[in-house]
Amino acid sequence: MKKIAVLTSGGDSPGMNCAIRSVVRYGIFKGIEVVGISRGYRGLIERRFQTLQRRDVSNIIEQGGTFLKTARSDRFLKKEGRDIAHANLIDNGIEGMVVIGGNGSYNGALLFHREFEFPVIGIPGTIDNDINGSQKTLGFDTALNTAMDAIDKIKDTSASMDRIFLVEVMGRHSGSIAVSSALAGGAEDVLVPSESWEIGSILEKIDQGRRQGKNSWIIIVAEGASKAQDLAKEIQAHNLDVRATVIGHIQRGGSPSAFDRILGALMGRAAVDGLLGDMGCHAVGWRNERTVIYSLEEAVRAKAEDFSDHLNLINILT
Ligand code: F6P
Repeated sequence: MKKIAVLTSGGDSPGMNCAIRSVVRYGIFKGIEVVGISRGYRGLIERRFQTLQRRDVSNIIEQGGTFLKTARSDRFLKKEGRDIAHANLIDNGIEGMVVIGGNGSYNGALLFHREFEFPVIGIPGTIDNDINGSQKTLGFDTALNTAMDAIDKIKDTSASMDRIFLVEVMGRHSGSIAVSSALAGGAEDVLVPSESWEIGSILEKIDQGRRQGKNSWIIIVAEGASKAQDLAKEIQAHNLDVRATVIGHIQRGGSPSAFDRILGALMGRAAVDGLLGDMGCHAVGWRNERTVIYSLEEAVRAKAEDFSDHLNLINILT
């Protein structure tokens, strides 16, 4: 393999730039040409290709987002779009592709490989930490720290005014940011998409806490579990002083943490080695402090979320 491409797709995450930098510089070190495709699969169809040199990825390690830009492409969902994308890669002499993104991007890469037998390898770039087979995804640590920082600040006002706060964090299908930020932020309760909850038991816990002298309360709500505003109205109906805060896309931005920068560097190197070693269809994962290469089929399967240990501890430490 002499020429490979790299793209970022779907929602951006802090650390994507670190992974791109690593793919480019490690690729050049291994004697291959690395082409950056801008705007994800859309750019693949629109031929937005540019060979990247070492200096093209200077000073991006500390930047959030992705300098290659990212997009969600409707055309790539259709066979006709993927045919154009494949023809563009072949025309440009590109022999393999690194896809940095989340589950939707991985599904696109798998389909593309199955249709054209084109070698692909995924790097799990998403703040959601929801890629099967990888203990961490690129951007999760930074997003978690952003959420924790917001919770710390909300705690100040919550404690000062004896209020209940609902803090909605990202995770349409995943409770990872919610559970980890609840534990890290010392929150009293947390709602995740994979666990059912009812208003009665939330109120009961608040009541119990009040009887034990607890005057302020932080409940973390994963966006896939409920809308913080709606839940606030339900709680308010019981004559409680409650406010809702949605942290939102702030969690997607910002300079990547040291962990995400290192993860990006290691995963970028692993992706190049993976492509050079076997022209198949793989993903880079993070297991027991090391990168691993495993099948993309395994990576696209739904990740079973078992938060029971953390949830129990949150209850005990409240
Ligand atoms: O997949 C990452 C993520 O940030 C989710 O947590 C969130 O639900 C979604 O993206 C938001 O997507 P968009 O930026 O398209 O609104």
